[in-house]
Amino acid sequence: PDYRDREVFICGPGGYMDASRKMLVEGGHDPARYHQESFNFAETVECAQGPVAEPGAEASGEVGYTVQLARSGRSFSMDGSQTVLVAARKAGVPLPSSCSQGICGTCKTKVLEGTVDMKHNGGIRPREIEKGMRLMCCSRPTSDLILDL
Ligand code: FES
Repeated sequence: PDYRDREVFICGPGGYMDASRKMLVEGGHDPARYHQESFNFAETVECAQGPVAEPGAEASGEVGYTVQLARSGRSFSMDGSQTVLVAARKAGVPLPSSCSQGICGTCKTKVLEGTVDMKHNGGIRPREIEKGMRLMCCSRPTSDLILDL
């Protein structure tokens, strides 16, 4: 009830932030007290859509992998040239994501079985990696995978 008196900090998908800002402005919130996170992708390393630079057949995308989602029971096939997030989208399997650049951590998922090559931009902590978590937006499989999704 006192949102007009609050500092507001927003982060999330663009549509969510746009809708939140519009609602606040319409409700009389002072725009000077509104803060929104944004990413400058031009300054970040290529990740979700970037090329893979690994030796051997995996880098060429010739090796096929199966990705199984343990909780939903869904699965899809992919090669090692794409990130798991991109391949899942192409297969019509929605995975949680936001920045798609290895920054926000939204796509963080536990890998129950298998291995990936992950090149992130700070969206995951070392202790999370030690526990088997990976960012699907910047992870390319190097084996078949079973994910905790
Ligand atoms: Fe942001 Fe993967 S979607 S880190």
